Formats: sequence, C-alpha cells, structure tokens
Amino acid sequence: MKQLDLTIILAAGEGTRMKSKTPKVLHGIAGRPIIDHVLNAIASLEAKELRIVIGASRELVQGHIEAGFPGATFVVQEQRNGTGHAVQLALENAPHIGTVLVLAGDTPLLTSVTLQEFFDAHVGLHPDASVLTAYTPDPFGYGRIVRDDEGNLAKIVEERDADPLEKEIDEINTGVYLFDIAALRSALTGLKSGNSQGELYLTDVIELMKTANQKVVAIRSNDYTETLGINDRSQLAECAAIMRDRINGSHMRNGVTIVDPTTTWIDVDVEIASDVTIYPGCALSGATKIASGALIGPRSTLESVVVGIGASVIESRVASSEIGAGATVGPFSFIRAGTALAADAKVGAYVEIKNSTVGVGSKVPHLSYVGDATIGSGTNIGAATIFVNYDGVDKHQTVIGNDVRIGSDTMLVAPVTVGDGAYTAAGSVITDDVPAGSIAVARAKQRNVLGWVLRKRAGTKSAESARKAGAADGPSKV
Ligand code: UD1
Ligand code: MG
Repeated sequence: MKQLDLTIILAAGEGTRMKSKTPKVLHGIAGRPIIDHVLNAIASLEAKELRIVIGASRELVQGHIEAGFPGATFVVQEQRNGTGHAVQLALENAPHIGTVLVLAGDTPLLTSVTLQEFFDAHVGLHPDASVLTAYTPDPFGYGRIVRDDEGNLAKIVEERDADPLEKEIDEINTGVYLFDIAALRSALTGLKSGNSQGELYLTDVIELMKTANQKVVAIRSNDYTETLGINDRSQLAECAAIMRDRINGSHMRNGVTIVDPTTTWIDVDVEIASDVTIYPGCALSGATKIASGALIGPRSTLESVVVGIGASVIESRVASSEIGAGATVGPFSFIRAGTALAADAKVGAYVEIKNSTVGVGSKVPHLSYVGDATIGSGTNIGAATIFVNYDGVDKHQTVIGNDVRIGSDTMLVAPVTVGDGAYTAAGSVITDDVPAGSIAVARAKQRNVLGWVLRKRAGTKSAESARKAGAADGPSKV
C-alpha cells in the first residue's frame, strides 16, 4: 500500500477576525481546540512526517501541540506571504520524493474518512496533484475550481481575483491537497505574487503544473460542511453547531434518547451508554461517562462526571465527581469536584457539596452545604444543615457515621465526628464529637416571655390576634 510521506498543516494565519487574545486554532469546539480536531483527523493516515507552519502566537500553538501530539516539526513563517510561501518553507529539508498532504489548521470538521477516501482516490489516479473540492451553496470567499471544456481541472481562482463568470462557479477549493513532492517543489519555484493580495498563492501551482504537462485532478467530496473553515466567531458557532449535530446523531444511533438535540451540547470525549435519556438544555463535557438508564436534565451541566446505572441528575451542575448507581441529584443543586455519591444516595434541592463522600442510601435532601465530609450509609442530613469546614484559614474534615440523623439546621463545626446511629437536635451547633448512639443538643434552652407582644407591641395586628386567642398581658414569666 502506498504511504503518505509528509503532511503539512498551514497555521500561520493571524486569525485577526476572531478579535481574540487566544490564537485562532486554539479556540475550542466540542471540548477540543480547533487544531486538535485536524490533528486527530490526519492521524489515521499515518504520514511519516508532520510539519506545522506557525506564525502568529507561535509559542502558544507550538506548546499546545507538543504537549498533546508529540512528534511534529514546526516551521516558522515570520512574514505571512501566502499559502504558497508557507508550503515553500515547509518543504525546506523535507524529503525530495514521495507524497505530501497539505491542509489548513482551521478546518475542524474534516473527517479521517474523507481524508482516507481522498488519499485512496489520489493513489488510484496517481496524478501529480489532487485537489479536494466541494459544491457549496455559498461559495463566496473560497477559491473557485475552474474546469476546461472536457470538465478537467484547469486552475483555481481566488474570490478576489475571479471575474464575474468565475464567481458564479459553486465548486470550491477546500484547501486540502495531495501532491507529488518533486512536482510540487518545481511548481512552487514558478509562483508569482501578481495577484490582488500580493501573496504567493499555493493554488497557483495547479495552473503551473498543468502548463508543464503534469497531471492534476479535482476530487469532489460529498459533504461541503466538512471543509468549512473558521475565520470569525460566527463561523466558530456555525462549525460548533455542525459538530454538535454530528455528535448527537452518533449517540442517538447508539440508543441514547436526546429529547432536543439542538440544545444538547456533548463534547467529543463524553461516553454515553444506550438507554440514557437526556432532556433539553444539557452540556456534557470533559471525561463524562454515563451508564445505562440514567436520566440527565433538563438544564444540567456535567463536567467530567461519572454517572452510574439508573442515576438521575435534574436541573443541576456537577463537576469532577461520581454519581453512584440509582443516586439522584437535584433539582437545583451544585456538586463540586471530588464528590462521590454512593449507590442510591440522594442529593435534593438547593444543596452544594464539594470534596465529600455520601454513603449508600444516605440523603442530603434540602438546602445544605456539605464540604470536606465523609458521610456513612443510611444517614439523613436534615434540611439546612451546614458543614462548617473553614475556620478562616484552613479547611477541616467532618466524619458522619452510618444511620445518623442530623437534625435540621445543624452546624457541624469541623473537625468533628458523629458516631454511628447518633442524632443531633435541630438547630444545634456541634463543636465536639458525638459518640455513637447519643443525641447531641447544642443550643440555648427556649424561654417564653408571656404577654410580651401585648405589652411591647400594643395596637399591632399581632397584639390584636394574640388577645383574641386569649393571651394575657400579665407580668413576664420565663
Ligand atoms: C485558501 C485558498 C482558497 C480555498 C480556501 C479554503 C489560497 C490562496 N486560497 O483561502 O482557494 O478555497 O483556503 O479554506 O490558498 N496560511 C499560512 N501562511 C500564510 C497564509 C495562510 O500559514 O502566509 C495558513 C492560514 O493560517 C490558514 C491557511 O493557510 O490556515 C489558509 O489561509 P487563509 O488565509 O485562510 O486562505 P483563504 O483565504 O481561506
Ligand atoms: Mg481560510
């Protein structure tokens, strides 16, 4: 089988239209920078060598790529003199014979399947140059594919240099090419910058090769959306939406119910088992993994969360945590990094939890903050309980045993331990450990000041109602 000797990715553009401090190719789509999608798409072609032409913000781009995709060589294009110039630089000290793939770093929708088909077609036809083309409903801005009377590729004309008839052509240059390296080298020496941008256009090599009686072919791709490039934020959103539809489509084909695919944003690395239901308005990102039968949403955000079989997360935000099988979360709760809910645990409404474990079947049903805690199994945390984990300087741990009943509105001042089967009285401020099986009562004893309202709030509606209820305004009694 014929092998690809070299891949060149052109990524020296400034991305001015993004109006961003972040280099264009590092903007994200479906949880990955644009350039990562391109690098993943070319990976299966297994080129012997990869060269990436960088310019603007090159340290950032190079640093990012080196960290995730080791083995690439970087070519610096100091002055942006056009795509032809960029390829000239990339070919310095490159192999003299073989096949080279050239593509841009800002086309994240290109798939490895299309690239493989393009490569196979090129190998089958063995021309000196192949151009990947596509029909598009809106060719504006792209180079147009000009064919001769026999329908063969004649040349590529850029939008700015095209005459009115050429502008009518709706077959465009996708910016993906395969070349015989030797033929490309010699054609590049003939490039001239006499065009509207005063640049060396890579696209001009096609006409030069044709004149030199070399074989050039246009190979059409069926799906023009794959070759959309990103130059501004609108195109970023457009490509993100196409990627979203692709990802959602593949999950639905695998048996996931996505109630409203247009409002469901799932990043590439997320794994979802069949028979999961995702309600509208969810964002699932990072290394999120959802097991069968789980219900997610509506309006929930999961970032790197592992969700067990049959669990549910309703109208909540969860990050870097594990939700056990059958556990339920929400509505309106916030589960922060380092939390593990065991099987059948329940976290109800308006609860914030961070860096804590909640044991099998335990419940934190209402309005609580749980931080830096270990909660055993079968335990109930009463409404509005606060784990007071921070003394203003350091964070401290709370340990709660099995089958504990924490009364509503308890303050658990860490570090503190509550033993198995213990209770705390509602409204207690617990500062000392509570032994197993005991009840801790830590609050002032109640006193009733009889008649106080009649004496101190005379004439109010409260006083009127109290009098009707038979309250006496006699002396206070504690
Ligand atoms: C280019 C093609 C056009 C094609 C379109 C497809 C040329 C002259 N035109 O136009 O026919 O339809 O892509 O998207 O090639 N770059 C460099 N150095 C440079 C100039 C560009 O590295 O000096 C890189 C850019 O970062 C980008 C790629 O090359 O990744 C394409 O450049 P861009 O300016 O986007 O070209 P287009 O106008 O889109
Ligand atoms: Mg472009």
